[in-house]
Amino acid sequence: MPRPLIIDCDPGQDDAVALLLAMANPAAFDLLGVTVVAGNVPLSLTAHNACVIRELAGRADLPVFAGCPRPMLVSPRSAAHIHGEGGLEGADLPVPIQPLDPRHAVVWLIETLRTAKQSVTLATLGPLTNLATALVMAPDIAGKIERLVMMGGTIGAGNVTPVAEFNVYADPHAAAVVFGAGLDLTMIGLDVTHQAPATPARIERIAAKGTKAALAVAGLLRFYSARYAAAGRGDLAGAPLHDPCVIAYLLAPGLFAGHQMHVEVDVSDPIDLGRTRCDRAPRDGHKVNSMVMERVDAEGYFTLIAEALARLP
Ligand code: RIB
Ligand code: CA
Repeated sequence: MPRPLIIDCDPGQDDAVALLLAMANPAAFDLLGVTVVAGNVPLSLTAHNACVIRELAGRADLPVFAGCPRPMLVSPRSAAHIHGEGGLEGADLPVPIQPLDPRHAVVWLIETLRTAKQSVTLATLGPLTNLATALVMAPDIAGKIERLVMMGGTIGAGNVTPVAEFNVYADPHAAAVVFGAGLDLTMIGLDVTHQAPATPARIERIAAKGTKAALAVAGLLRFYSARYAAAGRGDLAGAPLHDPCVIAYLLAPGLFAGHQMHVEVDVSDPIDLGRTRCDRAPRDGHKVNSMVMERVDAEGYFTLIAEALARLP
């Protein structure tokens, strides 16, 4: 039976590929809706971009909800230097016809979880503001969340500061709420996603599938990789394909490996703000609160994505 799934995102080229990967697997996922948060670019753009991807996949039936327009406490950050001013540059994309659902994402999330007949899997691909706000407003929803798989955090090096990853750094207080909520949480951080660069060969493999979705993704990834190189990460073989790792993990967990850890988000020290302190041997009374992924079979991952895009329009 397809598992009920809600994706929260901030599209973003990599978010877009993750959404397409999920939509290409209807036998695996009953995708209840997509909630959007401010992150890579402002909310008005991330919400628009999610509707563009829905249109590209031919899924006008899928509701998209705009959520929180800014982090809980810190000032909004942008990653437009990587994703482009519009947040989804690099391809010729359709103009969305179906409008956003008028309900606020957080209100919809709470109502949907409370009324769900079975627990729902959550996949988060951006800052955790929407989910954290929902958990603060309605703590009871934690019991209706089957599991949370999130792209965010890092065991080692950061990508926004030397120690912090963008999704956590963009709203560290929201991340601290989520890591402290007692959820069945799987963290897929930079240690994994940097093992899966969108190399030119992998992008061409995707383009060769020839569908509108595959050709669009190839263009998005070429732009995304060029921006990574321009931002000083030319040392990477291509832009790390962060967000689709979450969906790939739900589809094929055998492609990944990790360990249970205690993860704590630093919200105090200005130098370490947004750092995810990952401890495999919890101490000082700490308990395991996450499964933290450490490795991915990158070739298997990109094969999964290419084959999925071949199934889309
Ligand atoms: O650090 C990578 C994460 O930040 C990805 O989710 C990317 O889309 C950006 O949101
Ligand atoms: Ca994202």
